[in-house]
Amino acid sequence: MSAQTQPSSHYLSSAVRFLCCPVCTADLELRATTLRCSRGHAFDVARQGYVNLFVGRGHPGRGDTARMVEARERFLSSGHYAPLAQLLAELAAASVGPAAEDSCILEVGAGTGYYLARVLDRCPGARGLAVDISKFAARRAARAHARIGAIVADGENSFPLRSGTVTLALSVFAPRNADELHRVLKPRGALLVATPTSRHLQELTEPLGLLHVDECKAERLSSRLAPYFHPSGQHALELKLLLSRMEITLLVSMGPNAFHIDPVELQRRIAHVAEPIEVTASFTLSVHRPK
Ligand SMILES: C[S@@+](CC[C@H](N)C(=O)[O-])C[C@H]1O[C@@H](n2cnc3c(N)ncnc32)[C@H](O)[C@@H]1O
Ligand SMILES: [Zn+2]
Repeated sequence: MSAQTQPSSHYLSSAVRFLCCPVCTADLELRATTLRCSRGHAFDVARQGYVNLFVGRGHPGRGDTARMVEARERFLSSGHYAPLAQLLAELAAASVGPAAEDSCILEVGAGTGYYLARVLDRCPGARGLAVDISKFAARRAARAHARIGAIVADGENSFPLRSGTVTLALSVFAPRNADELHRVLKPRGALLVATPTSRHLQELTEPLGLLHVDECKAERLSSRLAPYFHPSGQHALELKLLLSRMEITLLVSMGPNAFHIDPVELQRRIAHVAEPIEVTASFTLSVHRPK
């Protein structure tokens, strides 16, 4: 079970040495509840325990909405994806090895921090850094484990992280910036990626009008990573889930389909599905080493 405690700025105190100022890239220091660089750029730690280091264009509300994040938390707490969390944790522990003490495990697009928390449980002593563009996600991730520091930042832009400090980076159903992931990883570090296959949720695709997972996703991933990483292992995981209508609602509402289907329309379509329904969850996990 992951350690659940009240979030506070001390979560970030152990992670701050991995961070840099998002404006000028100088080192950051935590004083009371503010992160500061030597040039005077300052970032307040929110009362919920995360810090907003987003300085790009747009606004940090661009990622998952409060509703999506809540659906994700509720669905993941049902345990249906626990085998995926377990496999990620095993692969992470094998990658990090005995050097886990005090190493940094980064997850970009960390959502509620569910997978990062399970990985940290298997890597005692390692520090977790949860990066997400959604402040609603960062709030939850800050509470997910005693060794997680949560940050709002754009994972598709420059990361507010020092170069060569990360032992393991996770990308679980999230955007991947290969160039930046390579920069922040230690030369002997690893990148662990989880993606859905084209069979993922196949029983629901037609009845609910869900987005199709691109059959070429794996090839696209390989070609985007190829300039920066060597492939170093691939694992398939397929689960048969028996889901109620409520669980289907949560599952669909927590992912990219939530941006495409109106919640009322989704309910109308789900009402036509007989419950419980057996649904395939199908994932590929791959390990990559920096070039
Ligand atoms: C499908 S969810 C996966 C969350 C988590 N990894 C999990 O599997 O539970 C994708 C996450 O990526 C975040 N995200 C989307 N665009 C992002 C970006 N440019 N930078 C950082 N996070 C981003 C979303 O807010 C969301 O939390
Ligand atoms: Zn600065």
